Amino acid sequence: MKLRYLILLKTLAIGVIPSSHPNTNDQTTLTEFIEKETSIAWQGILNNIGADGALVQGAHPGIVVASPSKSNPDYFYTWTRDAGLTIPAIVARLTQPANDDHALDRILQQYATSQATQQAISNPSGSLTDGTGLGEPKFHVNLTEFTSPWGRPQRDGPPLRASALIAYGNHLLTTGQTTTLAVASNLWPIVRNDLAYVTQYWNESTFDLWEEVRGSSFFTTAVQHKALVEGEAFAHALGEDCRGCAHIAPQILCHLQEYWDGGARAVRTNLPTSGRSGLDANSILAAVHTFDPEAPCSLEDRGTFQPCSSRALANHKAFVDSFRALYGVNRGRGVGTAAAVGRYAEDVYQGGHPWYLTTLAAGEQLYDALYQWDRQGVIAVTAVSLPFFRDLVPGIIPGSYFNSSDEYVTIRDAVRQYADGFLLVVQEYTPEGGGLAEQFDRDIGRPVSAVDLTWSFAAFLTATARRRGEVPPSWGALGAGPAPAPCRATSIPGHYATPVVGSWRVHDELR
Ligand code: NOJ
Ligand code: NOJ
Repeated sequence: MKLRYLILLKTLAIGVIPSSHPNTNDQTTLTEFIEKETSIAWQGILNNIGADGALVQGAHPGIVVASPSKSNPDYFYTWTRDAGLTIPAIVARLTQPANDDHALDRILQQYATSQATQQAISNPSGSLTDGTGLGEPKFHVNLTEFTSPWGRPQRDGPPLRASALIAYGNHLLTTGQTTTLAVASNLWPIVRNDLAYVTQYWNESTFDLWEEVRGSSFFTTAVQHKALVEGEAFAHALGEDCRGCAHIAPQILCHLQEYWDGGARAVRTNLPTSGRSGLDANSILAAVHTFDPEAPCSLEDRGTFQPCSSRALANHKAFVDSFRALYGVNRGRGVGTAAAVGRYAEDVYQGGHPWYLTTLAAGEQLYDALYQWDRQGVIAVTAVSLPFFRDLVPGIIPGSYFNSSDEYVTIRDAVRQYADGFLLVVQEYTPEGGGLAEQFDRDIGRPVSAVDLTWSFAAFLTATARRRGEVPPSWGALGAGPAPAPCRATSIPGHYATPVVGSWRVHDELR
């Protein structure tokens, strides 16, 4: 009687809570899913960009709207961060062979022009005169200032926008599609303002990318450093001068090291820690958005946070593990198996569920690392990264495994399978129509919070591009370290000027 009751209970439980996950390690369904979802993600992004985007009526040309959702939450705004993270995905598409889609060039040029206007709009963070207005996180889609209370300033916006425009500018320069002069006159004035903002304000407190806590934020520091390094090279290519970039960048790289918690083998993403563990997708996003395919994995304690570095791998494990027991959807996903991940374990925003874009980024970091290992021909398992590797290859010991060894192949295949697992999680909780919202319910996996989140779609496109081995050009991380010691919090006052709007000739030149 007792036994039968138990069996019945067990059967019922299995009926409600899946303890195994249907697609796990099914490569065929994953490839099919990626193919189908790629066109949905593309359309999803285009739908959210003005003026022609189907879901964002009233949006100014080139304005990237965060989501069409107008209530609970109201995301019908343009965030400098979300836009700055979406534009590179569009540039990457343009750089694919046999893709000279003039419609995409038009969108990128309209984005640039819209940002020239946006930079000059005075807002609650300040104005362009002293650069302070550049730290404003979001604007109305018709390009007017948003005046309600908000977590401001957010100092990741300007460097992300600079990097997005530099990516497009470099694309135009390397393809010879347009003259250096056209890039210099249309993109550089906007980029110069954003770089000046970074050199002047990088060390002042900021709201983090989640717009919640004030202080230093790892993601913000990482993208600030990258923008100055590539800004210096971009200026040089244009015959311009990036005032202070070369001087300040090493100090930012120095500051970046200060977030590392050696005991926890993880990044404390916010300083002060605000009572949180510090394990946060902030650091995973920092790794994938400062990934440099040509950078070495080493330079451990004085370098950039490369996806293949021991620190970034140890941090990946600590971060992913922090969600395993937290979400019902992770039942049956033990250590070494991919899991659904959110922003950070303590999160309660919109229910504090797992996010699509963070789960995708967890996979993306590993595809990046795989690319770097293959390029360098060696995987280093160190004392710091050992726990990460042990979960995937039990019994592995520290050492350098060259690509001629069996161990190299074993590790590589295990990491690849682990990486695919994150995409399989996303596949499992993507609804029939393929729309990617912001979050998916922690117990039943159905989409929650903002629908058709532009950033979710962009995260899908970059993660799956890396899976195919498509990587962005080097941004110069190789030459950027080691960081000096001790750190010096120096700053250089910027010069700001209203960028000239509407001078694009590039599109006409292309015709
Ligand atoms: C909330 C997220 O925390 C923030 O990073 C994002 O910019 C906005 N939503 C808009 O997507
Ligand atoms: C430690 C200081 O407390 C902080 O203000 C500064 O940003 C970093 N060092 C980097 O120099």
